[in-house]
Amino acid sequence: MSNVIILGAQWGDEGKGKIVDLFCGHFDIVARYQGGHNAGHTVQIGDKKFVLKLIPSGILHPGKRAVIGNGLVVDPAALLSEMESLTAMGVNVAEQLSISNRAHVLFPFHRTMERMLDAIGTTSRGIGPCYEDKAGRRGIRMAGLLDREHFAAQFDALAAEKDAVARAFGVAEDLNLGQIRAEYEAFAERIRPMVCDTARLLNEAIRDGKRVMFEGAQATMLDLDHGTYPFVTSSSASAGGACTGTGVPPTSIDAIIGVAKAYTTRVGGGPFPTEALDVMGDEIRRRGNEFGSVTGRPRRCGWFDIPLARYSAMLNGIDSLVVTKLDVLDELEKIPVCVTYRSGRHEITEMPATTRGFEAVEPVFECLPGWRTPTLGVSRYEDLPVEAREYVAYLESRAGVEIACISTGPERNQTIVRPGTRFAKLFS
Ligand code: IMP
Repeated sequence: MSNVIILGAQWGDEGKGKIVDLFCGHFDIVARYQGGHNAGHTVQIGDKKFVLKLIPSGILHPGKRAVIGNGLVVDPAALLSEMESLTAMGVNVAEQLSISNRAHVLFPFHRTMERMLDAIGTTSRGIGPCYEDKAGRRGIRMAGLLDREHFAAQFDALAAEKDAVARAFGVAEDLNLGQIRAEYEAFAERIRPMVCDTARLLNEAIRDGKRVMFEGAQATMLDLDHGTYPFVTSSSASAGGACTGTGVPPTSIDAIIGVAKAYTTRVGGGPFPTEALDVMGDEIRRRGNEFGSVTGRPRRCGWFDIPLARYSAMLNGIDSLVVTKLDVLDELEKIPVCVTYRSGRHEITEMPATTRGFEAVEPVFECLPGWRTPTLGVSRYEDLPVEAREYVAYLESRAGVEIACISTGPERNQTIVRPGTRFAKLFS
């Protein structure tokens, strides 16, 4: 086993942070490849709870290199504040972190732009407008921020454009451009020691036999191309993004692990066919503590969606699926699973490409018996109640992908790995 991508197979918040943290010991480097501080990975170690937004969860393992790849957009203020709180908790961030000189820099005016134009319920972090500048070929990269001679002119050109847009939209607030420039010049000096060509760092490490874990943020259905556009994030959250977002070629990737909840959640607007808008949805939210780790927003909750899981497995080439939060379903008498969609008089198994088409589908559910027995903390597959094993086996056969790892609680040891599976072999 060498280089593995771990990514979300649904709409995010699948519990990737715990899984990355759990298997991190098998890798030398953990690299993030997209997104920014819109992500929120929670890792519980003993009585300490770490919420990571920009920095890969691998940083929590002493001696591991954590890489922020070129595919990310980095708000230096958010990065430095995260670094400070991790350092205060005893993590050696300055020593372990490398930041790509090609990652794009996020400025406060990106948030202003987002406030003016957000139509989908974003995390309001300015992520989309920063990626817009990247695609528009006017963004500033880390290398540009560190360029003492030319940064001011690059910043002034970008800032003047934002000022003009804000005025055109009648935004009265002062963008404080002079002050921002000075702040960013100061940030640059604090970040400088960690910035390098991370594509070279990663490729040379792989050449030398080191193992890399690529840590996805957000998830497949929030991918800019393959997700439920336009209700998506602005980056490539699916497996392909790991290559473009780090500069590591596809030939260097050995396996892809998807992470999915035993049910489904999403935050923000957009189609969600299996959403439970009744008391059951509230119950899952309560039991699963389904509130955003970045924004605190209540997550929309619903049932496991097989067509979505199959599509996600296909897009990413998922070798093995990790199912998390099984214990959240412990008290249910019956558990609906969406096996197909109905569109008008037809049954369809594909996800429609338009919002209107997707919102019009009705989920076709099969109800499986619940187990009504606590599974919190179960760590051996054979110790799960028979109905819980049947539920997992059903998802596995319908989704067409191995389910070899099941999470039954937030702690590291509250995890089942099924022996003899491809997944178990990967991490043996
Ligand atoms: P943005 O990433 O802030 O542009 O938000 C775009 C969409 O992605 C919104 O629906 C957000 O709620 C969603 N989103 C972004 N990051 C996450 C995440 O980490 N978990 C779940 N949803 C997310």
